[in-house]
Parts: sequence; structure tokens; C-alpha cells
Amino acid sequence: MSTTENRGQFGSKLGFILSAAGSAVGLGNIWKFPGKAYNCGGGAFLLVYIIMVALIGTTVMMAEFTVGRNAHKNALGSFRAISQKWGFAGGLGVLTGFIILCYYCQVGGWTMKYIYAYIAEAKMVYADPTAYFLGMLGANGFPLQGAVIFPLIFLFLTAFILSHGTAGIEKMSKVLMPLLFVLLIGLMIRSCTLPGADAGLKYMLNVDFSTINSNAILVALGQAFFSLSLGMGIMVTYASYLSDEDNLISNTGIVCVLDTLVALFAGFMIIPAVFATGIDPGMGGGFAFATLAGVFEAIPGGTLFGLLFYFLLFFAAVTSSTSIMEGTIAFLIEEKGLKRNHALLGTSVVVFIIGVFYTLSQVYMNIKGIWVSKNGIEYPIFGDFLEYLTDRLLLPLGALFSVICVGWVWSPEKSVEEATSHGRFKFSLAPVYKFMVKIVDPIAIGVIIVAGLVF
Ligand code: PFF
Repeated sequence: MSTTENRGQFGSKLGFILSAAGSAVGLGNIWKFPGKAYNCGGGAFLLVYIIMVALIGTTVMMAEFTVGRNAHKNALGSFRAISQKWGFAGGLGVLTGFIILCYYCQVGGWTMKYIYAYIAEAKMVYADPTAYFLGMLGANGFPLQGAVIFPLIFLFLTAFILSHGTAGIEKMSKVLMPLLFVLLIGLMIRSCTLPGADAGLKYMLNVDFSTINSNAILVALGQAFFSLSLGMGIMVTYASYLSDEDNLISNTGIVCVLDTLVALFAGFMIIPAVFATGIDPGMGGGFAFATLAGVFEAIPGGTLFGLLFYFLLFFAAVTSSTSIMEGTIAFLIEEKGLKRNHALLGTSVVVFIIGVFYTLSQVYMNIKGIWVSKNGIEYPIFGDFLEYLTDRLLLPLGALFSVICVGWVWSPEKSVEEATSHGRFKFSLAPVYKFMVKIVDPIAIGVIIVAGLVF
């Protein structure tokens, strides 16, 4: 017990749930999910996504929770506690988190830039939403605000919250997560009641099985890992701060349900509004920035709703960025002996420098023609590469190592022992969990990795 006390612990069950949900609910739910749902078939994609979360997401999360709570150590130490040789699984998670953090803090900065934009210069955004978005990324010269100033403020905030340890994470989550839900539900009702929104609602509720193909399944599973914060040792690290009496089974269920609800609500907030205003949703990173400006311009009171929306996105981003950075910080403190504040400062500086190149590579460097050309195909030199590497390879690989380590090196029985706090809690689905962790999850994730690399 003493180790737990020395390294800090969540003060309450609610604090843990809100912090873990805060990590899961992030840019992935609001920035990434609606665009993917729109592009991969609407209702059919929602169905596939829910099945992926229910079967694979929940079991991988439970596996990660049990690894962390068993050892009460950072991700690397927790895997090592199972087998000395498996430390690399945690080490890989720390590395993946560090890479994600570099771009996550940049996009977090963009959300702050848009809060500023809707307060100070909404007219400029409306005049040409795409030009405004690309201008932030450097279409008209060095993007000082989009790449440096706002991401720096965002990064500073993330590090500041973490300088207060788990108490900082918990306090922030207790305030921001309920606010996030209220904002999200309010915006969703506004969107669904717009004239013409019913076409979007139909698209999201109509399950057309012909749109379910291998690509939709791949996208859904990759999205589920990112969205649930799996494969990076974050849930391992968070669970390591839990007491031995906490119920991991109900915690897994609650976090997965909350995260999925937010993704669905975000879909029902964005898609009906896009249909109602007849705007071409476009793809990728501009969805939550450029596309939505047209929606906010078109609806009554839209600028206020726009402002609330970017606050929502910002809250979601900061409760996730803190979790991603905590993975690196816990590792530096416990494995490398650094003081918390030194670890925070060092990490922030490196993340900032690499991150600047992420934003620059979106438009500024590409415009100047810095591309890598291979076999006649041009690849953006940096930005897309970071996301490609983490979403398609490193996160699923991390999840694969988690389930193999629990299913084959530790043992599903011991994992269940930990999940039930040695018989304290009932777990009627334990046989299903053991089978999933040992057999189904490794095969499904292995297929995803190979398919993701080949297609
Ligand atoms: N789950 C977060 C989101 O949906 O934005 C992002 C994330 C956080 C991914 C923590 C991975 C992670 F370990």
C-alpha cells in the first residue's frame, strides 16, 4: 500500500472515472469521429463502431486496467512487474504517447485560436472559412499563432495542471467533464432541431448494410483504440493510481459507455447541422474548423454556438492531453529519477519543438514543396506521417502487446483476480473476457495491423 501512497492516488471513485473518461473523451470523439462516421456510411458505421467498442475495446481496457492496478507503477514498470522481458510493451506506449502529444498539443492550440476567433473576429472566419483555417496553418506566411503562440499556451496549461499531480488531473476533470456534457447535449439539441436536420438524422440512423466493408471495420477499430485511449499505457498508468478496493469491472463499463456516448452525441451534433445547412462536409482535419464555420454562420445565434463548440473541443482536448503527457512524466519520474517539474519542463520543450513542425507541415512547408517522393507518389514530409504512424501502427501494436501479455504471459485468470479485487466483486462475464483477451483480441488486432499497413 505504501507505494501507492507515495506516488499519489485518485481521491475518489468519481475522480478516477471522470479522469479516465476525460482522457478517453477528446479530439478523437469530436474532431475525428463525426467525419469518419459521415465518410464510412453513417448509421452502419455507428453500428460497427458500437460492436467494436463492446467486444474489443472493453476487454482491452479491462486488461490494461488490471496490469496497472496490479503493479501500481508507470506503464513500463507495470508490464515489467508481470515479466521482466515485457517492459518494452510499456516503453512502446510511452513512446507512442510522446509522439501523439506532439501533434495533439498543436491541435489543442488550434481550438484556443478558434475560441479567440469567435470572440474577436468571427466575421473574418465567415468571410472564407477555408482560407481562415489554412491561414492559421501558414498559407499566408509563417503561422505564428497557429504553430507557436496558441499551442504554447495550450502546452503550458497542460504542464501546469500536471504540476499538481493526480490531484490536478482530478480537480480539472471534475469541473470540465460535467460542463462538457452539458455543452454537448445543448449543441446537439440545437443541431437536431434545425429545419432540414432530419435528413442528417436519417443518415445517422439508417443502417445500410451494403456500406459495411473491411475499410469501415478497420476504421472503426482504429478509431475505437484512439478514442478509448488504449494501446499507449495511459489506462495502465491511470489504473495504477487506483486503490486495491476499487471495482475495475464497473469502471471499465462506465468509461467505455461515456466515451461512446460522447462520440455519438458529437456525430448527432455535427452531421444534422451539416445536412441542414447544405454544406459540403469535406474531409479530415478541417471538418471541425473550416466546415463548421459555414454552419455557425447559417444558424440563428450561430456565433455564440460556435464559441461554445470550441470551448467544448478545448475542454475535451485538455483533459486528454494531460493524460497523454502524464504517461511520459510518470515514466521519467519513476524510471529515470527526474523531479516532476523537471520532467514537465523537459518534455514540454521537446514536444513543442517537434509539434511546431507538425503544424508547419500541414500547409506552410507543403506549399513550399517540401514533400518526400517515393515511387512516383508524394508523401507529406511530417504531419500526416505522425498520425499515420501512431493511429495505424503504434496504438494497435500497443494494444496487441497488452492483450498478449495478459492473455499468454501473465494469465487471464490472474487478470480476472485483479479485476474482481480477489473475489470482492462479481464478474459474470469473466469466461467471455478470458476468451476475448487470449484468442479473439490478438487475432483481430493482428489483422488490423497488417491490413492497416497494406491498404
Ligand atoms: N482518447 C483521446 C481522444 O479521443 O482524443 C486521445 C488519446 C488520449 C489517445 C490518450 C491515446 C491516449 F493514450
